[in-house]
Amino acid sequence: MTIHSIKAICCIGAGYVGGPTMAVIADRCPDIVVTVVDLNEARIAAWNDPDLNQLPVYEPGLDVVIARARGRNLYFSTAVNEAIAAADMVFISVNTPTKTKGIGAGQASDLRWVEACARQVAQYAKDHTIVIEKSTLPVRTAVAIKSILDTPQQRSEVDQDVPTFSVLSNPEFLAEGTAIRDLEQPDRVLIGGEDSNAVEALATIYRHWVPNEKILRTKLWSSELSKLTANAFLAQRISSINSVSALCEATGADVREVALAIGTDSRIGSGFLSSGPGFGGSCFKKDILNLVYLCHHFGLPEVASYWEQVVTLNKWQQNRIARLVVQRLFGTVTGKRLAILGFAFKADTNDTRDSPAIHISMDLLEEGAQLAIHDPKVDSRQIALDLKQSPSNPLSDLKGEGTWHFAIDVAEAVQGADAVLILTEWEQYQNLDWSNLAGLMRAPAWVFDTRSVIDPAQIAETGLILWRLGEGSG
Ligand code: NAD
Ligand code: UDX
Repeated sequence: MTIHSIKAICCIGAGYVGGPTMAVIADRCPDIVVTVVDLNEARIAAWNDPDLNQLPVYEPGLDVVIARARGRNLYFSTAVNEAIAAADMVFISVNTPTKTKGIGAGQASDLRWVEACARQVAQYAKDHTIVIEKSTLPVRTAVAIKSILDTPQQRSEVDQDVPTFSVLSNPEFLAEGTAIRDLEQPDRVLIGGEDSNAVEALATIYRHWVPNEKILRTKLWSSELSKLTANAFLAQRISSINSVSALCEATGADVREVALAIGTDSRIGSGFLSSGPGFGGSCFKKDILNLVYLCHHFGLPEVASYWEQVVTLNKWQQNRIARLVVQRLFGTVTGKRLAILGFAFKADTNDTRDSPAIHISMDLLEEGAQLAIHDPKVDSRQIALDLKQSPSNPLSDLKGEGTWHFAIDVAEAVQGADAVLILTEWEQYQNLDWSNLAGLMRAPAWVFDTRSVIDPAQIAETGLILWRLGEGSG
């Protein structure tokens, strides 16, 4: 079998997946020209910014990889059609959010951007082109993509050659915050497809740095479904341990001890057992809801409701944290200053999509709280978008309605506050000088640690009252 040799790659979508994934491919395969394209001009300009601190995605180690490959064989561009025409392999890495209206609203994936890409590839590709589903997609999406690609197109007189296509599924398993490590040392690479020549062409690219035994080859449908299932299993573990956190609080147990005790069973394993304010991010909720939708579609309501419960429990966990903060603060937070430490959905990313901090902050704003929000990487314009309200003047008088402002550092955030809520596990929150911070707060002052970043010994003797998620008293 002669394997199609890949010289030029086009990736449509320069987001959290397209950018880092293509940067690593270009870094590891200097003989391949990789062009990442996007409709969003500002995003492409940021990827091309000489100042690597201005990259649109914050990921540890990404700047180093970009510095090595950009301008050598890695390019970022808005010239989508040209990049498609020049490529023998096209990755589709565009957003696939949950539909907000129409059939399947609230559950099904909105595939309009994927379809637009397929149409554009059909129109502008030349010769044989391997099209790769990198976006997370509902099982059997490849049928739709292939049928669009195979539809005869109107071509200009000078361009009458009809291209041919192979479609593969190659879902991405990177987690934000550890994307570069996950891409450079993946647990596995998954390639689904029936065209073995195309599968091997893609496998050859990954073999530049991934051992062959870690490259799994499966049927297309297994690959598409594995991505949704992997995310559902991971999220399910978080909801499971979060459900236990509430039980620990009610019974006097400690969820950290329970997680350790169950996680040391090799059949269970210790990963993904950190109880917290619920999972956030752009993937888990969207992908489980998509799975739920597919189960209904295929006539499996019991399977659908089984997975839906993972999302229900997650929402409950976020609401209950906001509720118990209000309860502890004498039943009202109206006009009280609360410091929110961490707004990103997890540490080491600037991404706030579906962050638990959004939901918890919204609940507290609804109760009339004055929030002072700090995050080392999220900027205040993003917080304003997420909370759907502009920042207030921090010195404004106490009013009935909830307000927020961006705090430039932790000390400013806690100044005059009745409580601190730690919502993201940033390393810098792990070693704060609590005796100093306690002096800035209004007594009786609380610290609500939803991420287990504080060692209770750090707080002893400060006069602060510590509440830790999943820690029962008595
Ligand atoms: P993103 O929103 O950060 O990026 C998507 C980009 O695609 C945007 O910049 C958008 O402008 C661009 N785009 C959309 N339609 C386009 C078109 N027709 N032509 C050119 N550009 C277009 O999304 P993301 O987080 O990178 O996720 C992309 C896909 O990868 C999703 O399906 C997601 O579920 C999946 N995924 C995400 C992660 C993650 O951690 N974020 C991990 C694994 C898989
Ligand atoms: C996830 C999957 O891990 C990744 O494989 C997939 O490609 C995309 O979706 P991501 O959402 O970037 O990645 O981050 P992840 O580390 O999975 O965390 C998701 C959420 O779960 C975060 O809010 C995180 O704080 C939370 N989480 C994670 C917990 O609350 N407890 C844990 O033990 C692990």
